[in-house]
Amino acid sequence: MRNTQGLTFTPLHPVIAAECKGVDISEPISSQVADVIHDAMDRYGVLVFRQGKPMTTEQQLRFTRSLGELEGLYTKIESEEGRRLETPLLSDISNLTPSNKLLPPDDRKRQFQMGNRLWHSDSSYKKIPAKYSALCAHVIPPAGGETEFADMRAAWDMLDDVTKNNIKGLVAEHSRIFSKGTLGFEFTEKERHDFAPVRQPLVRTHPRTGRHSLFLSSHAGRIVGWQLPEALMLLRELTEHATQREFVYRHTWRLGDLVMWDNRVTMHRAQQYDDLKYPRDMRRSTVTCGAPALAYTESLPDLATAA
Ligand code: OGA
Ligand code: MN
Repeated sequence: MRNTQGLTFTPLHPVIAAECKGVDISEPISSQVADVIHDAMDRYGVLVFRQGKPMTTEQQLRFTRSLGELEGLYTKIESEEGRRLETPLLSDISNLTPSNKLLPPDDRKRQFQMGNRLWHSDSSYKKIPAKYSALCAHVIPPAGGETEFADMRAAWDMLDDVTKNNIKGLVAEHSRIFSKGTLGFEFTEKERHDFAPVRQPLVRTHPRTGRHSLFLSSHAGRIVGWQLPEALMLLRELTEHATQREFVYRHTWRLGDLVMWDNRVTMHRAQQYDDLKYPRDMRRSTVTCGAPALAYTESLPDLATAA
């Protein structure tokens, strides 16, 4: 437990995640409080704010903006009726149609969102990936629907030196074609074009703490210069290593919780629930990294020039 600016942080797990109290994030926060939150994110990777009631769109966007620039808009699969939420700045992480009915089994958006149950880092398929994601719980199902977070710094630290040396400097290609593809999802010609793979370092260095972390995601599906089976095997083995129980915090949601994670140092995944029977309504705001991840790898000088 620590106290600065009246905020307290109580660890929820030995290596990752803490609950933050002592600040009302539905009100504007000072830059000093924002600094304390950044420091805590650097330390814990995941912060939980239990608020008891969901934030309004305005409150959530104001809080997120006080921590950084929001991520730009990007191509999504929308339900045929269009958008459910009033602003495209919030990602609709729900199983609902724009008229708040449950999505039917064959709905494309429903099937696409199933990809959230694969371990991933948000927007790793974009040249400029996500920094923080903040997810607020509006409606939660009676059972299931937890979210798990894995610590990619601990995962890096616990690799043996031979593996560390072998993978330092590798570049992976990320695309939603790879992640959703593993679930058998089929893409239109336009989506294949829009979802062209982007390159990301396999090992990142945090710009503030200097700590290394594995940059894994279900979106990763190639390693530059490697044969495909070897690349997929390595990605699979690293993911298995990185998601061992000792590196994972599981969040059981309560109404109004806001959970914020640093996508640079964590992976996360949703847990199954009976989505054909119960609504689950979560809304996500996202802070961008601001620059490609390859720019943050000064200690790995070969990366940017890898073939
Ligand atoms: C997300 C996400 C998981 C969940 O919002 O980016 O992956 O449990 N959510 O809804
Ligand atoms: Mn996600």
